[in-house]
Amino acid sequence: MTEPTSNGMKKHVATYTAAEPTEISSILAGGYHHPLLREWQNERQLTKKQLIYPLFITDNADEETEIASLPGQKRWGVNKVVPYVEELVKKGLKAVILFGVPLAEGVKDPVATAADDPNGPVILAIKALSKACKDLFIMCDVCMCEYTSHGHCGVLREDGTLNREESVRRLAAIAVNYARAGAHSVAPSDMVDGRIRAIKRGLIDAGLAHKCMLMSYSAKFSGNLYGPFRDAADSAPSFGDRKCYQLPPSGRGLARRAIERDLAEGADAIMVKPSTFYLDIISDAKDIARNVPICCYQVSGEFAMLHAAAEKGVVDLKIIAFEATYGCLRAGASLVISYFTPDFLEWLEE
Ligand code: PBG
Ligand code: ZN
Repeated sequence: MTEPTSNGMKKHVATYTAAEPTEISSILAGGYHHPLLREWQNERQLTKKQLIYPLFITDNADEETEIASLPGQKRWGVNKVVPYVEELVKKGLKAVILFGVPLAEGVKDPVATAADDPNGPVILAIKALSKACKDLFIMCDVCMCEYTSHGHCGVLREDGTLNREESVRRLAAIAVNYARAGAHSVAPSDMVDGRIRAIKRGLIDAGLAHKCMLMSYSAKFSGNLYGPFRDAADSAPSFGDRKCYQLPPSGRGLARRAIERDLAEGADAIMVKPSTFYLDIISDAKDIARNVPICCYQVSGEFAMLHAAAEKGVVDLKIIAFEATYGCLRAGASLVISYFTPDFLEWLEE
């Protein structure tokens, strides 16, 4: 078909006849009109195997206390956490990550002695959980902030800055003691430079490196999303902040360098944290660390925000939990640490 143009020339205009079967690529709906087809669009499927559930363990063995700022989450004593986790395992829970919350008076000191106390909450919980749940994968967060009198993640110098050498020595000792107690994985979240090498060295020297996965919180950003966790773990710094060891939110290049470095230092898996606000970093991690699993941590502030929004009627909790988690998978994560894990065990079939 032709039609006149302003300069009097004839111009060819496309028509959609059977003879010219063009432009049909715009009909996308055929590809997702059925619920199964919508599942088939997933490049990565969310399953129970990919979820890691964070647990807060206190030194009072019979404690079971709701954490106000983390809906549905509790601080658990060792005696109480075992039956709780046994029930979750029946529903398909595969992995947990343990955080210690020492509440006893006077237990915190400048070098986090309580972190690897053989009678402290984490080591007792590793032993109790591995005995009760044979197939459960037990990870331990490795950090000092829950146990230091100053609330920072390492050993400090007199001027209040991190003492790197002392910190990595202490962190390696803590990690090795968790592995010795039976942890299947240690995950250092302190962000002190060089701790992956020190921990790997420690695991090798202790003869444990072959049975303990070292997952590095490589790309962990400082920011405003850890508040509820610090309430839960009583781990807020008593002065200053963590901006000189956790990465600045705009530090994409620093995150890439940290991932490369931690791989070179012996990390078996790489973590990005937080998750939803850092999907570009997850994608970078997937790209840079192609040969190891990529994990992301949907942190306490993200979880609490989604709950708050659901309570306000802004979102539906279940739908938004799936949407947020699928964002992480699309970006490149294959593992997700999530406070939604008990919910997903109800929501997912496998
Ligand atoms: C300890 C640690 C923190 C989190 C995991 N490990 C807190 C922090 O760095 O201040 C945060 C987890 C969350 O917010 O859910 N270093
Ligand atoms: Zn810390």
